Amino acid sequence: MYLTREEEKMYSGEYGPAVAKSMEILVALGDIYGADGMVEIVSAQISGVSYKTIGDAGLEYLEDLVVEGAQVVVPSTLNPAGVDLDQWQKLGFPAEFTKKQLLIVGAYRKMGISTTCTCTPYLVGNVPPMGSHVAWSESSAVCYGNSVLGARTNREGGPGALSAAICGRTPNYGYHLDEGRVPHLLVEVETSLTGADYGALGYIVGKTVGNGVPYFKLLDKQQKNPSVNHLKALGAALASSGAVALFHMENTTPEFKEVMPQIPNLEKLTVTREDVDDTREKLSTSEKPDLVCLGCPHASLEEIKEVALKLDGEKLTNQLWVCTSISVKAASDRMGYTQIIEEAGGQVVCDTCMVVAPIEEMGFKVIGVDSAKAANYVPSMCGLNVVFDEWENLVELKK
Ligand code: F3S
Repeated sequence: MYLTREEEKMYSGEYGPAVAKSMEILVALGDIYGADGMVEIVSAQISGVSYKTIGDAGLEYLEDLVVEGAQVVVPSTLNPAGVDLDQWQKLGFPAEFTKKQLLIVGAYRKMGISTTCTCTPYLVGNVPPMGSHVAWSESSAVCYGNSVLGARTNREGGPGALSAAICGRTPNYGYHLDEGRVPHLLVEVETSLTGADYGALGYIVGKTVGNGVPYFKLLDKQQKNPSVNHLKALGAALASSGAVALFHMENTTPEFKEVMPQIPNLEKLTVTREDVDDTREKLSTSEKPDLVCLGCPHASLEEIKEVALKLDGEKLTNQLWVCTSISVKAASDRMGYTQIIEEAGGQVVCDTCMVVAPIEEMGFKVIGVDSAKAANYVPSMCGLNVVFDEWENLVELKK
């Protein structure tokens, strides 16, 4: 692949071993995927943060990079870690696990990466402009960034995104190119959607389209425009049951008009109420959650507010975590939502989530979720049962 003179210098070690190692990774990725060259990026979002997923080998790799002087050159944020970095003791996270986790986050911090550990970077100021190139690696954020923001990123792995952040470049292929953004499947949704339906829809379509690009038409006349929260839930589910990195939605996402001429040639999938209800049912593996975990992807302030309004003056009988970023929690604290949730017996948990935290070591058996992505991953990654439903049906209040 073609490298500029500057990139050649990076590759040959003129900027030190960390840059050279990172450029080597980018060139190898570019060769595998047939990139013609590199493209400059404006932001990075880096996964491979939880000790549960990267272990000691990952920690060692990061610490080596620090010793070699690695520094990111574009604004970069981290994916969720395995613990709440500030409240881990209060919430009962295991001490040994936390010790390793703090070392991992510390290594990233030394490289200049913002330790707002979240899968919703677009809610904490990592908001690339339309058409800009980025290297993001959390699959739900990739889906949101490509589809809703109109930024351009492939589904990077953790090392790929970190290397891109260090070099300020990523290989130019896939979703960075116009031809990578054309739809492959027309999805006509005949039923009206609310709440957890969006995740169920994403789960159905992700399974069908695999790593293709779906184009959604919401046909029901009663259907209101989806909110940011609905779109993040849809994208997360699409990216977890399939490998979707981009979707278009008529009258909603920014590139839908550009790709409309392709629609008559597409294969069609129709989604009915029955399909959505069946999927919702199938995603549950149990009943009666002992821990309800909301915020997959990480909760927005609006979602936390809705929970606080319901819990105001009430007492919960099951445990509740509302997972979010430190930045959104700060706003929730100031608005008084955190206090309301805590007084009801719940917690606003930062930096982590029900999938990357070691919840299987914390005594929980059945997890209640309103996210199809979490319902898909909790049984496989944590070995626990799940109940998938609207959050209002999952939280139990004392009579
Ligand atoms: Fe985020 Fe964890 Fe869900 S990383 S998208 S809350 S599985």
